[in-house]
Amino acid sequence: MDAYDDERTSAAGTRRDFIKVGALTGLGALVAIPNLLGCAGPGRRAAPAAAQPFVAPPLERVRIGFVGVGGMGTNHVSQLLKVPGAEIKAVCDIVPEKVARAQDMVAKAGQPKPAGYSRGPWDFKRLCEQEDLDLVFTATPWEWHVPVCVAAMRAGKHAATEVPAAVTLDECWQLVETAEQRRKHCVMMENCCYDRAEMMVLNMVRQGVLGEVLHGECGYLHDLRGVKFSTEGEGLWRRAHAEKRNGNLYPTHGLGPIAQCMNINRGDRLDYLVSMSGPSRGLQLFQEEHLSPDDPRRNEKYVLGDVNVTLLKTVLGRTIYLVHDTNLPRPYSRIHMLQGTRAVKVGYPDRIHVEGRSPAHRWEPLLETYADEFEHPLWRSESVQTASGGHGGMDYLEDYRLVRCLIEGQPLDMDVYDAAAWSCISELTEKSVARRSRVMDVPDFTRGRWKTNPPLGIVEAS
Ligand SMILES: NC(=O)c1ccc[n+]([C@@H]2O[C@H](COP(=O)([O-])OP(=O)(O)OC[C@H]3O[C@@H](n4cnc5c(N)ncnc54)[C@H](O)[C@@H]3O)[C@@H](O)[C@H]2O)c1
Repeated sequence: MDAYDDERTSAAGTRRDFIKVGALTGLGALVAIPNLLGCAGPGRRAAPAAAQPFVAPPLERVRIGFVGVGGMGTNHVSQLLKVPGAEIKAVCDIVPEKVARAQDMVAKAGQPKPAGYSRGPWDFKRLCEQEDLDLVFTATPWEWHVPVCVAAMRAGKHAATEVPAAVTLDECWQLVETAEQRRKHCVMMENCCYDRAEMMVLNMVRQGVLGEVLHGECGYLHDLRGVKFSTEGEGLWRRAHAEKRNGNLYPTHGLGPIAQCMNINRGDRLDYLVSMSGPSRGLQLFQEEHLSPDDPRRNEKYVLGDVNVTLLKTVLGRTIYLVHDTNLPRPYSRIHMLQGTRAVKVGYPDRIHVEGRSPAHRWEPLLETYADEFEHPLWRSESVQTASGGHGGMDYLEDYRLVRCLIEGQPLDMDVYDAAAWSCISELTEKSVARRSRVMDVPDFTRGRWKTNPPLGIVEAS
């Protein structure tokens, strides 16, 4: 048994030694951060998972503290300002000008100017502790998501984070354990679950159009070379992951919608995976072709394989093919393919073949042919029709749903177990890649509740 065997998680949900893995994976500072909160440690066992989907008492309005108002954070603030019942009460960022910009946006929308927090990278703790808030929402770089969410829940607030919820497996457990102990929501805001085609397909799956869903293919295939080498935004932090990590660093955009259609954690669950990465070329080529010879970034060496492919198996025997491809020239895709016993759907462009309805062996365009019958009710709703901006409407919809569920005291569409199951894929793929594609078990964060948890329903706008 080697160090990796020792750290493998079993379906029973045993935890690993967090600090040891940091050293092994070479993540260094990235994984050292959460230990400063004093919430990590070897051998801790999670309490039993809740028997029912978690609900919190209803709220009259949702008072929000926002941490990290760069590209995506600013987008969320502008969406939330359109959602009835949402109030932005505090804003935090390490860059004071960004805090001021967000404060102005809120004031211009007619809400009182929110409190500002900008005294360094841990100032979000002061926000969590001092402000009277219902929800702390973070859109910081990946390594800060768990520290912010844990600080929020410990201070009695619900937590929402951008994707991925966590970088490491142990961080995933921290979210689960803290949410259970503090009885707070902790949601990963996976906006791709709210895109029009994804929601329509979920509706079709629920109505049996695809028959039994047997296989999915998905991923995040996005030429991010310009973004990664930008001198602002993600260019300031995202390349660092490519220097230290080799696996699927961004699994949730592709996996989330497929997992919902397959009832992952709600009737089925992810069982194990194998992963492979190919060569690392794209970022090196970009360096050579676009940076001046004296640019310090030319000294960086990348280990992230440009194309990472992963195969996942579920406990019920279904299969998922998952790709990460962000360093090469290519048009955007999340693939979004589902094969059922009665139909097959493929994305980019969205097309479908339904046995008995489509011409034999031929595709039909999904939206044009099936929207009248199968449009998801949320996409038919007036609030979405009138909302604008943010990845074609899905960003508004995810923020709208979060606020509505909190106000109504309903379970959220995605919970902490989804956040953990979809995010833990990153570290598991890194470990599989490092070990000649060794099989890695996906922990059962629900600790057996996946067998009885109800599937996500088709919700209407309220
Ligand atoms: N769902 C989507 O479609 C989507 C799109 C883009 C980005 N994202 C995710 O959103 C998150 C943020 O990405 P981005 O593109 O907005 O990056 P960004 O760099 O533009 O924004 C991050 C912000 O966080 C601030 N920050 C950094 N450390 C901080 C700390 N300790 N405390 C407070 N503020 C801190 C930075 O100053 C910056 O303003 C990432 O998780 C990313 O993966 C999601």
